[in-house]
Amino acid sequence: MKNYILFLAAIWTTVSLCSCDDGRIYEQHVDIERGGYVLKLTGRFSGLGNWADGYSVVVAGFNDKSEYAVITKSLPLNQSDGTEVVMTLGGINDEVTVLKLCVINRLRECVADFHTIECEEIFASADTIMMNVGTLDVGMYSAIQSQVFDKKCTMCHGETGTAAGNLFLTADKSYHALVNRPAYKNSDLLLVKPGEAEESFLHLVLNRDGDTNMHHLDLFSEKEQLALKLIDDWINRGAFLNN
Ligand code: HEC
Repeated sequence: MKNYILFLAAIWTTVSLCSCDDGRIYEQHVDIERGGYVLKLTGRFSGLGNWADGYSVVVAGFNDKSEYAVITKSLPLNQSDGTEVVMTLGGINDEVTVLKLCVINRLRECVADFHTIECEEIFASADTIMMNVGTLDVGMYSAIQSQVFDKKCTMCHGETGTAAGNLFLTADKSYHALVNRPAYKNSDLLLVKPGEAEESFLHLVLNRDGDTNMHHLDLFSEKEQLALKLIDDWINRGAFLNN
């Protein structure tokens, strides 16, 4: 009889513990509900499919604590250029401080940044955050042009009408000035040799000052080294303009 009572007591304890668990599950449910913001992206894109392996064009959420995206969704690759894309990214919670249309690498670091929305004010006013970007070329070479050449090079290489080292890196001229063109300073080497980043003079100037003595290494901070890898990956993939 005593055993029987103990047995009943054990069952009772188990049932009570289970009902405690109920509470925890409920709390988790509330947490998920909090992440209820939605981003709605509208735009017409070209160059979506011409990225090297390991890169993705995405809408993504970032927070202050790390450089890795906390939430991402890829843009559809099977769209023909110029078709209107409308897509949503759900489950955005309060921790997200910035939403971007960007390119990420395998680690989810932002490599190229096409459009940014700071979340703070928007979270206060609406559940759906609209990102209308119009028509955008998000191809690999366009990203190099807008993120690297336009920001870091054209002030010396072409913007004023003259070009240091006889090299124009402005959007209208850069591709044809680089690809399969002999370097001015060393005509034995091509500035960009498709498929061979390490034999390209552009790579040597930006990565190995010792070989070229051109004092370009300081142009990229530690954090910006991703841009150098982007250029190398583009060259190794064939240095294409559009595909
Ligand atoms: C502050 C000015 C300045 C900036 C900014 C600059 N460059 Fe230069 N660059 C020069 C000068 C000056 C030369 C020529 C050096 C020489 O002939 O010794 C040169 C030469 C070069 C060459 C060699 C050209 C050849 O055919 O011999 C390459 C490649 C190059 N730069 C790429 C870049 C890239 C890419 C960027 C941006 C990431 C950049 N440069 C930013 C001043 C600059």
